[in-house]
Amino acid sequence: MTESIPDLSREPKHRAYPQLFAYIVGTLTGIDDDITGMATMSAMIHHSLRHLWTGFYRVVAPDLLRVGPYQGSLGCLEIAFGRGVCGTAAAERRTIVVPDVSRFPGHITCDARAKSEVVVPVFDRAGALLGVLDIDSDRRAAFDQLDADGLERIVRWFAGEGRG
Ligand code: SME
Repeated sequence: MTESIPDLSREPKHRAYPQLFAYIVGTLTGIDDDITGMATMSAMIHHSLRHLWTGFYRVVAPDLLRVGPYQGSLGCLEIAFGRGVCGTAAAERRTIVVPDVSRFPGHITCDARAKSEVVVPVFDRAGALLGVLDIDSDRRAAFDQLDADGLERIVRWFAGEGRG
């Protein structure tokens, strides 16, 4: 693919996310492979929104997440359900927006520059938890409900949305 990833980091979120969704599902047309989906989404979200770390943690055992495709600095390799933001989002199967990671009890620091984050659960077509999408920013309060909504829509690709 010769087309470069668009810079949407200066667009208002309500305009950025619909474009990002369209680019991602367009790029993944004809693909039915979760790892390819995770790798492609990590690259496209990371380079368009330009935060510090963008990637997936996959459920590899009943209560264990292991790092999957991602972009950014070195991620923690494994996170137990219930630990940190990722493990809490996985255990509770819900999106968590953390405006200030220093105020989240048990936050796991992989990169000292991280100041805020959003973690979105990822479900397959049967409703089983595949993992979580984690985005970390070096700015405080970088994420809000528009990010939660936009990212939840993108990861519904794993449940079949946008696959035609
Ligand atoms: N901050 C996360 C850990 C994962 S990384 O930052 C890549 C957490 O507390 O779940």
